[in-house]
Amino acid sequence: MSEAQMAIGIDVGGTGIKGAAIDVATGARLTSRHRVPTPEGGLPADIAREVGLMANAIRTELAGEDLDERLAALPVGVTLPGVVQHGIMRTAANIDRSWIGTDAAALFAGAIGSPCVVVNDADAAGLAEAAFGEVRDLHGTTLVLTFGTGIGSALIHNGVLVPNFELGHLEVDGHPDIERFASAKVIEREGITLAEWASRVARYLIHLELLFTPDRFVVGGSISKASAQYLPFPGVNAPVVPARFRNNAGIVGAAWLAATR
Ligand code: BGC
Repeated sequence: MSEAQMAIGIDVGGTGIKGAAIDVATGARLTSRHRVPTPEGGLPADIAREVGLMANAIRTELAGEDLDERLAALPVGVTLPGVVQHGIMRTAANIDRSWIGTDAAALFAGAIGSPCVVVNDADAAGLAEAAFGEVRDLHGTTLVLTFGTGIGSALIHNGVLVPNFELGHLEVDGHPDIERFASAKVIEREGITLAEWASRVARYLIHLELLFTPDRFVVGGSISKASAQYLPFPGVNAPVVPARFRNNAGIVGAAWLAATR
């Protein structure tokens, strides 16, 4: 495979940093899935260091013994769990607040040693699903929702992403920040059952239907691998499907964006 078809995607979450090299023509993974815990506190310099080390480890895995300058120059896409506007981080709900205003694209480029593109994590998942996954070639409105440490959201209309479409902090049923009531993390934090969590998410999706009338929902994030245990959500009209790339959608989308922008 030529280097032009490869890129590295690194998905920075509130809990873990995951990455791999991706075939950007198919979305297939070309290396093992690298994962380290998000450094305690989630400070920019600590995360940048881990991202730099991971990019290097992925390149080394790809190259074996012959890491040359073509592999060193592979495009790299990095996600962050907040609003990212032209490389600058604008919000930080599940990561240290010092990220706000940070030029993440410059910070990661310094740590990686080559230019990189930075994108909101849910937007990256949405891009992966639009390019290769559940939303490929589909018309109409899709809401991709990622349930992990927080709730991420991506709006895709006729294959085009509207960036930073943040729906994870809406007030729903008197809960002022739905993420704090219905992210996957609350299952562990509150000790609730998957069924109780699913009924919370169903209320959220019904609320989103009222606002946006999507043609479909795609569920990603860490909870997506267990989808057989909670789908379908009661009372939700639009079809709800798990993300094709499950919790790897962010990695795939970040790599795809880096290679195609
Ligand atoms: C952030 C989003 C992010 C989501 C998932 C939310 O708290 O506001 O930008 O996509 O968490 O990480």
